[in-house]
Amino acid sequence: MELVGEFVRVETDEEHSAVAVIRIDRPKALNALNAQVTREIAEAAAGVSADASVRSVVLYGGERAFVAGADIKEMADLGHAQMLEYSRGLQNALTAVARIPKPVVAAVSGYALGGGCELALAADFRVAGAKAKLGLPEITLGVIPGAGGTQRLPRLVGPARAKDLIFTGRHVRAQEALEIGLVDEVVADEEVYAAAVARVARFADGPAVALAAAKETVDRGLETDLDSGLEIERLHFSGLFATEDQKTGMRSFIERGPGKAEFSGR
Ligand code: CAA
Repeated sequence: MELVGEFVRVETDEEHSAVAVIRIDRPKALNALNAQVTREIAEAAAGVSADASVRSVVLYGGERAFVAGADIKEMADLGHAQMLEYSRGLQNALTAVARIPKPVVAAVSGYALGGGCELALAADFRVAGAKAKLGLPEITLGVIPGAGGTQRLPRLVGPARAKDLIFTGRHVRAQEALEIGLVDEVVADEEVYAAAVARVARFADGPAVALAAAKETVDRGLETDLDSGLEIERLHFSGLFATEDQKTGMRSFIERGPGKAEFSGR
């Protein structure tokens, strides 16, 4: 699929036609999320979610910066009532990314700070370049993260590590980010994009409905108590018995052994 905004494009990876790339491209401001970039990210998330030919997604901001945060210049003079609206737009856009019902990886090269780190947190996986820097520096601006950072970061790395990053606002290098579980893989800077694509391209031939159910079940389950989570799991698990891929997968196992099924994604 192709979807072109002024600052955000949805492209198809050159080698893997089922991998869509949400490319954020506002280089003069290190891809800072102004209202328009935010809106275009939400549109891109809706587009890749709806397009059945897209089986997995890469978020990428180019080599210098993933995203250096929400646009400080645009926010600086806003008041309380305006920020209530503005922050709703930001949170909704990043939640639209988090809810893309397909595997999503953030390819982090350069800075992923503030809203940029929060965008990366909305992905399922994070691949970072060796020189990447991540963090939530909002406290140094006299505020707190407002695009999911106080919620998604502690769920990923635990409350004490999250509070360390949120209270200090310090930048974390890729290696430390790997050690605390903030990123999943560190590669040479020039390999970030390819490594991110490789991480999700493998899902292109997978059982798409089951992958969506797996993502939804893990994410919704983390937001609720164990009993409710188990019920979400049971319902999704049972629901997959209405798919072609469940029949193919189990029949293939019985006839030819494990791991040989060819899925249709239906
Ligand atoms: N908002 C607006 N403009 C930004 C920006 C941001 N978040 N980050 C960078 N820019 C702009 C700079 O102002 C500069 O513009 P000019 O050329 O017009 O002066 C341009 O991008 C290049 O940046 P620098 O010259 O600062 O580049 P550098 O290499 O010296 O430093 C940096 C890079 C360390 C990332 C530094 O730009 C920086 O600290 N940026 C801000 C990081 C930040 O605080 N992010 C959090 C934002 S608040 C937030 O995100 C709230 C939320 O939770 C929703």
